[in-house]
Amino acid sequence: MKSKLVIGNWKMNLSFEEADDLTIAIQEALAEINLQTEVVICPPFPFLELVTDLAEESNFNAGAQNCSQFENGAYTGEVSAKMLADLGVDFCIVGHSERRRYFNESNEVIAQKINRLMDQQLIPVVCCGETLEERNAGKHFEVVEKQLKETLFHLKKEDFEHAVIAYEPVWAIGTGVNATPAQAVEMHKFIRSLVEKKYGTEIAYNTYILYGGSCTPQNAIELFSSEDVDGGLIGGASIKSGDFVSIIEAAETAVNDN
Ligand code: PGA
Repeated sequence: MKSKLVIGNWKMNLSFEEADDLTIAIQEALAEINLQTEVVICPPFPFLELVTDLAEESNFNAGAQNCSQFENGAYTGEVSAKMLADLGVDFCIVGHSERRRYFNESNEVIAQKINRLMDQQLIPVVCCGETLEERNAGKHFEVVEKQLKETLFHLKKEDFEHAVIAYEPVWAIGTGVNATPAQAVEMHKFIRSLVEKKYGTEIAYNTYILYGGSCTPQNAIELFSSEDVDGGLIGGASIKSGDFVSIIEAAETAVNDN
């Protein structure tokens, strides 16, 4: 059974001092564990160097929460994939529903961002997921399929195999209402079948498909032990060191029990 991947998305939270304390607390706790799980911390841009510096001597990696769809140039306020690579960042979240909703990011723009990340050999963590309205209308599979086809499935095999997919139902993000393991499994299986159709069985098996949306230390073991759930993208619980480390421990338990 492949090891799990747990990614913390701090969003736009914490002061510099809090970020420093949190990263050190995670570093110290993980140093005590003979870790199989791959752990990634995605702070806001101004704290990235803090995390990349500590990541060098720790068993976690650094990730960004966003990057520009452009290579470089007169794009005030933007951060390029190359800048992230220069800083030692390995992962970057793209297509998060908050970016789609508040910053009008389209599938087309997300696809361009993924291309920029691929140019720099960074790993995109590509988010997809339906709203409650779409689920209630029975359109959740259709919505996720369209998002993945339009953002990710243009990649060649050798690029696609570096991508991570995160299924994050919008109704579960920050709401305290997580998808049930059955709902997660159903969607993850569907996503893996899409990957299989496009890229073949081996790549489909190896692709990490994470679940995100109100993951907690309480529900993590059950979710991560579910078939086709390869780990989690964690928001709120990732800015509390105790909760985040417990979720990583749940990932360890889920692999060892299977
Ligand atoms: P949440 O966020 O864990 O706070 O629900 C998940 C995410 O947005 O990645």
